[in-house]
Amino acid sequence: MKLWGGRFQEATAREVQDFNASLPFDSRLYREDIEGSLAHAAMLTRQGILTPEEGDAIREGLIGILADIDAGVLTLDDDSEDIHSFVEAHLTERIGEAGKKLHTGRSRNDQVALDMRLYTRRRTDELIGAVTELLGVLVDRMEENTETYMPGFTHLQKAQPITLAHHLGAYAEMLLRDRSRLRDLRRRMNECPLGAGALAGTTYPLDRAFVAAQLGFDRPTGNSIDSVADRDYLIELLSALSVLMMHLSRFSEEIILWNSNEYGFVEIADAYSTGSSIMPQKKNPDIAELVRGKTGRVYGDLMGLLTTMKGLPLAYNKDMQEDKEGAFDAMDTAADSLALFAGMLRGLTFRKDVMARSAQRGFTNATDAADYLVKKGVPFRDAHGIIGRLVLTCLDRGISLDELPLSDWQEACPVFDEDVYEAISLRVCVDSRLTKGGPAPAAMKEQIARYRSLLAKEDDPSC
Ligand code: ARG
Repeated sequence: MKLWGGRFQEATAREVQDFNASLPFDSRLYREDIEGSLAHAAMLTRQGILTPEEGDAIREGLIGILADIDAGVLTLDDDSEDIHSFVEAHLTERIGEAGKKLHTGRSRNDQVALDMRLYTRRRTDELIGAVTELLGVLVDRMEENTETYMPGFTHLQKAQPITLAHHLGAYAEMLLRDRSRLRDLRRRMNECPLGAGALAGTTYPLDRAFVAAQLGFDRPTGNSIDSVADRDYLIELLSALSVLMMHLSRFSEEIILWNSNEYGFVEIADAYSTGSSIMPQKKNPDIAELVRGKTGRVYGDLMGLLTTMKGLPLAYNKDMQEDKEGAFDAMDTAADSLALFAGMLRGLTFRKDVMARSAQRGFTNATDAADYLVKKGVPFRDAHGIIGRLVLTCLDRGISLDELPLSDWQEACPVFDEDVYEAISLRVCVDSRLTKGGPAPAAMKEQIARYRSLLAKEDDPSC
């Protein structure tokens, strides 16, 4: 059934109906659509715009439709133009005349704005939960690895020794920022657009504050034109999800590298790997690759929506129906990626011996060797040159600094003594990096405690 046949003399062309229809993708808003209609009808009844009998009939009808959809008795696949038309048609079919009064003082423009906000708010809460869940796994893995030594990299070249906890901590910081962004935009989106009508409000004495409170919003929106023309909250969410996916993608890239035969730092659990149809030896990091790949989809969803919105005059235009598929895709993709990534991280085996050996073999202690000289009064620039030459000697002989005989050290600079070996040992190099936010186990334990307390904080937009 159409909501707008009156003014027309000819039937809509079949292809127009198909091109125009959004039910195939906005059917997933059915719960929010009914929830919004229940609040609207309750308000109309309180305001004396509907009689109590009409209000009761509408409420019971809507609850029945919701129950039947949930139970699979009523399927969302008829000829209706969109979810709003679908629910209204079925309501009228069930309760008769009163059903036709539900849309009093309302337009599909403010209705869809409400449905989409309610849906997005629910999904945002779930996404905040999923980020928190992943952070929990990450902090557990950090706690187990405050003394797991590995090389830290710049330019993908071994740079200085760190611990695995320290490396993972960088991702904890990123995810905390992601969570804070989601909480922040969630707070901003929490205004109720219902009551804006098509764009100019209505002449009925609506109680917008009542509807807003019923639906858990902080307040009604402030301008009826903006209420139906605004999709900023979706753009903000898609931006935050793009940044989140960028973080997961960088993390995935490292897991892929670390899982390679050349690095061998990690082994992905069988349950989170896949094989090759031709090469029997293969165990591929497909989940990490897919998360990295799906990041592009989410960026695309964001760019699509920004582009859809950029030239639209106020207020509602049908272009805005195009907000849905991309936004749903981004929410689904981010939610799945977070869940899969958490599972993969939980089951990851870190090969501590390989990581430590890699730190040992890569001259990651060269800065510490230079610092040793500085502590004995040699200017840093000179020390840098001396150690650089010693590194060359080691490279020539295929050994590490730790394996260089004392005579070579002393020949390069007489200040060197037996204690240099202790000073450049992996443990000392890491343990003495006590800078706040640095890798020393003591500094890292402080950060882990901070992460644990931030994780436990609910509804704080700053974390
Ligand atoms: N299906 C439409 C959408 O998603 C609902 C709003 C339709 N409003 C209108 N004036 N045609 O945007």
